[in-house]
Amino acid sequence: MVHKPSEIRSVILAEHAVLRSRLDEIEAALERSAADGTSRRSLPGQLTRFCEEFLRHIEHEETILMPVLADIDNWGPIRIEQMDAEHAGQRRTMDELSRRSPDPDFAGYAATVRAFVREIRADMESEERECLSRDVLRDDTTNIDAFGG
Ligand SMILES: [Fe+2]
Repeated sequence: MVHKPSEIRSVILAEHAVLRSRLDEIEAALERSAADGTSRRSLPGQLTRFCEEFLRHIEHEETILMPVLADIDNWGPIRIEQMDAEHAGQRRTMDELSRRSPDPDFAGYAATVRAFVREIRADMESEERECLSRDVLRDDTTNIDAFGG
């Protein structure tokens, strides 16, 4: 069971590291597919496995990170709103991706997958900046109410 903000931070950052290496693998498979057609068959399966893993990750964030962010400071509600909106968008994108096929337009498929990879990378970066920085997730945080006088 994870309790302290610093522990939550480590767990989520470790998941991001694993997800980034999966994204590297997907990009490598895209390159191979574009270069000589190898990996074309395995790409959709690889992408499905990534999406399953990513879904588990965002569910995990909603379970362990969101409650802490909610009342860590006065920006809590805004952070929660942003994360909710991002996760909803990602679930939609993954749902759309699951219906795409590499055939007959592989270039179009590859461009869509590349855009998805970029979006997920950018999201992890902004999460790490806005929600997972040491300044935000501190174990010694006291909930200071700036409007409380
Ligand atoms: Fe994340």
